[in-house]
Amino acid sequence: MERVYINTISGHEGKEVTLKGWLYNIRSSGKLIFPEFRDGTGLIQGVVSKNEVDEKVWNDFNDLTQESSVIVTGLVTKHPKKEDTYEIQVKNLEIIQIAEPYPITPKEHGVDFLSDRRHLWLRSQRQAAILRIRNELVQSIREYMYNNGFILFDTPIFTPNACEGTSTLFATDYFDLGKAYLSQSGQLYAEAGAIALGKVYTFGPTFRAENSMTRRHITEFWMMEPEMAYYDIDDNMDLIEDFLEYVIQRVLKNCSKELKSIGRDTSKLENVLKPFPRITYEEAVDILMEKDIPLIKKTENGEEHIRPFPFGEDFGAPHEEAIVENFNKPVMVHRWPAEAKAFYMKRDPKDPKIVLGVDVLAPEGFGEIIGGSQREDNLELLKQRIIEHDLPIEAFSWYIDLRRFGSVPHSGFGLGLERLVSWVCNLDHIREAIPFPRRPNRITP
Ligand code: 4AD
Ligand code: MG
Repeated sequence: MERVYINTISGHEGKEVTLKGWLYNIRSSGKLIFPEFRDGTGLIQGVVSKNEVDEKVWNDFNDLTQESSVIVTGLVTKHPKKEDTYEIQVKNLEIIQIAEPYPITPKEHGVDFLSDRRHLWLRSQRQAAILRIRNELVQSIREYMYNNGFILFDTPIFTPNACEGTSTLFATDYFDLGKAYLSQSGQLYAEAGAIALGKVYTFGPTFRAENSMTRRHITEFWMMEPEMAYYDIDDNMDLIEDFLEYVIQRVLKNCSKELKSIGRDTSKLENVLKPFPRITYEEAVDILMEKDIPLIKKTENGEEHIRPFPFGEDFGAPHEEAIVENFNKPVMVHRWPAEAKAFYMKRDPKDPKIVLGVDVLAPEGFGEIIGGSQREDNLELLKQRIIEHDLPIEAFSWYIDLRRFGSVPHSGFGLGLERLVSWVCNLDHIREAIPFPRRPNRITP
């Protein structure tokens, strides 16, 4: 008997096939049992008729529990009423294991209960659909990069220096060499790659020791970072636009079934077509003033609301939401006050208080999904910034070298994969965007 997967079942109508999977659900009515099977690729309903199967098969079905592993054979038929739906008329059943009482049932469970059982929660149809969408996004990102001449350039996770500020570093002992830090970003290494290979990207896990319990923060996340020689900030924004359009349009095409199954309203994503609005930080602050959105500072006795929003401060979730509200596409906010951004960003030749950075804010209030910039390519200015940011200059000596030997204007950006997944899937919380999320209060399972 041919072993088939549920997602290709329509090609086997009228044939007898074997499915290898698990029992998802079961109900019976008199002389019929309706077991529902899953095999990782989808769900299918079986029909077991007491008059058509051996007594042993009938009795075995009565013993089956949720998530028992089973191999079934039967005839593939079209569902009598439902369009595009198939069933399996079960002939035989082989039980691989009878599962113990399964803790996750179709009733509602609390999020802590589910998070403690993430290794099992992943089997739910919704979680599996989200992870298939994540898979498609990763594939489309890699294909875009490959098709556009970017070379994959893997960067190290153990690093001797910070990239995005010293306050969010995870340190670990590294033999006789003192401390190593888990990478916050592969960017600095990708810059060496761009000078060597022209256009590169790095795509791997990154770490931030940020004690934030928001719906957008995890301590270990995947970041895709392209870096391009001879690209200025405008070239960088052109690339971001073209790249995001490709990735979003492709996931809409290739994951329409999964997006539908998780209830995503895709009309908002269909809108993600070039060009995207480009506004300066100053224009973004004007929007905040117009909407009277204050800066909220935590103080000893609560919160202080500062109006109007002061120039120079970074945006939080309420600001990002207010900025994108008027647009139905990702918004590129560029030209930031230097004090809000990292040491490596190049100053605007027109205004030394401003850096040539860009943040991309996703629509529907999902906030920053991309951060990027043109890089400081001047040797003396770069050294000065490292000192101003109180960073240990020796650890950056190799990085500074890049400005000694054939320095060129160059740019790049970093896309947070789980932020992208959260937006595309319209998730309430980033914890569902990665198989095993790491947060300040959770390292298991
Ligand atoms: O804006 P960030 O900090 O930029 C960088 O790391 C640059 N070195 C990137 C570059 O230019 N090559 O981070 C980039 C993106 C953010 O826009 C966000 O999507 C994601 O990484 N990100 C996080 N995602 C989940 N949890 C966190 N704690 C994140 N911190 C950043
Ligand atoms: Mg950022």
